[in-house]
Amino acid sequence: MKRVAVLGSTGSIGTSTLEVIASHPDKLQLVGVAARSRADILVRQLDQFRPKLVAMWEEEKARELQRLTGRRPILVGMEGLIQLATHPDVDIVVVATSGRDALIPLVQAIQAGKQIALASKELLVMAGELIMRLAREHGVSLVPIDSEHAALFQCLQGIPKDRVSRLVITGSGGPFWGVPPSQRHAATRAQVLSHPKWQMGPKITVDSATLMNKGLEVIEARWLFDVPVERIQIVIHPEAVVHGLIELVDGSVLAQMSPCDMRLPIQYALSFPERWESRLPRLSLTQLSALHFLAPDLEQFPCLRLALDAAAAAGSACVVLNGANDAAVQGYLQDEVPFAEIPRVIAETLEQHTPILHPTLDEVLAVDAWSRTVAETLLRKPSCHVV
Ligand SMILES: NC(=O)c1ccc[n+]([C@@H]2O[C@H](COP(=O)([O-])OP(=O)(O)OC[C@H]3O[C@@H](n4cnc5c(N)ncnc54)[C@H](OP(=O)(O)O)[C@@H]3O)[C@@H](O)[C@H]2O)c1
Repeated sequence: MKRVAVLGSTGSIGTSTLEVIASHPDKLQLVGVAARSRADILVRQLDQFRPKLVAMWEEEKARELQRLTGRRPILVGMEGLIQLATHPDVDIVVVATSGRDALIPLVQAIQAGKQIALASKELLVMAGELIMRLAREHGVSLVPIDSEHAALFQCLQGIPKDRVSRLVITGSGGPFWGVPPSQRHAATRAQVLSHPKWQMGPKITVDSATLMNKGLEVIEARWLFDVPVERIQIVIHPEAVVHGLIELVDGSVLAQMSPCDMRLPIQYALSFPERWESRLPRLSLTQLSALHFLAPDLEQFPCLRLALDAAAAAGSACVVLNGANDAAVQGYLQDEVPFAEIPRVIAETLEQHTPILHPTLDEVLAVDAWSRTVAETLLRKPSCHVV
């Protein structure tokens, strides 16, 4: 029996993870859950799964959860997340929080020797070099949940690293692929948040609309698989059936295909190194029409260009990219900045930064805080205001 703790159990990945756990009661046991503030969802999860450990980031919400459930203790804040992620009763930590708060808990979980199933790509964008070095040092397996990386991870099994010539990450193109700039800039919140293929949390859905998500995924893949950025290609694939491909030195290409359902990569990350049966939807090859693969348009999607530039620069440029993007997207979601201004805020924040090539954890945290402050100031500049 594998004992699982889920950081971000109330979110899109978190709730899908709990479904996977519920579908394998003989193999998986939920021993811990953590959320930021949504006490109502945690109440239902505690009722259904009765996990031993529960953590809530916001103290007031932790008190509310205590009132609603009578549960004691409820772990709180950063210390609570760390206690959950390093608890002796936990074998696998699923990291599925939005934002940066799980970075230290992830680092400490690795140091405690926990197996990691990682959805939170932002943490690898911020500190991938450091995280992967720690995972190697502690002999920890870190298995990606992000569908493209889960695809690459599966294709790479049993292939010597020096036999791989290229990684290919696919992306559906989001809601605005092929949409003229005038329509894109006038898009409503509902249009930005309606992804054609995936149901996800709001931050990653906005990143999918700007294509920043693909850029973050290149940086994620660079660290996960230790492959230089120049050998990672992005391909727009509107049907979203092929999630990732690897090209080998002899020109052979291996691909992973499946319906768009995050429960599959989540299950694989939890079952790894085994592969379990599932009742998830199957791909019907005869019902597929043509599959298309197109080059991304860096002119129309400047966030992707910014991300690829930061990926090439590496080091703290990726921390700034991530922090500024997060601040700009939160600003957009809170009506502080129009959708079209997101790349400008990120670009101007990056321009003000003096890069560090191999930042320490403390430097990562300091640069992250700096980039958010700068981006938030830029958001408040009159030119950015929503009219
Ligand atoms: N959704 C997908 O299909 C998908 C695919 C690939 C990768 N990812 C990645 O997975 C991560 C999560 O995405 P999502 O779509 O599941 O986001 P989401 O639906 O917005 O959920 C975020 C989760 O994180 C929790 N959380 C945020 N800050 C926290 C903190 N400080 N302490 C404890 N919990 C905290 C939230 O709690 P509350 O509910 O209480 O706010 C919620 O449970 C992101 O990094 C995303 O890029 C997602």
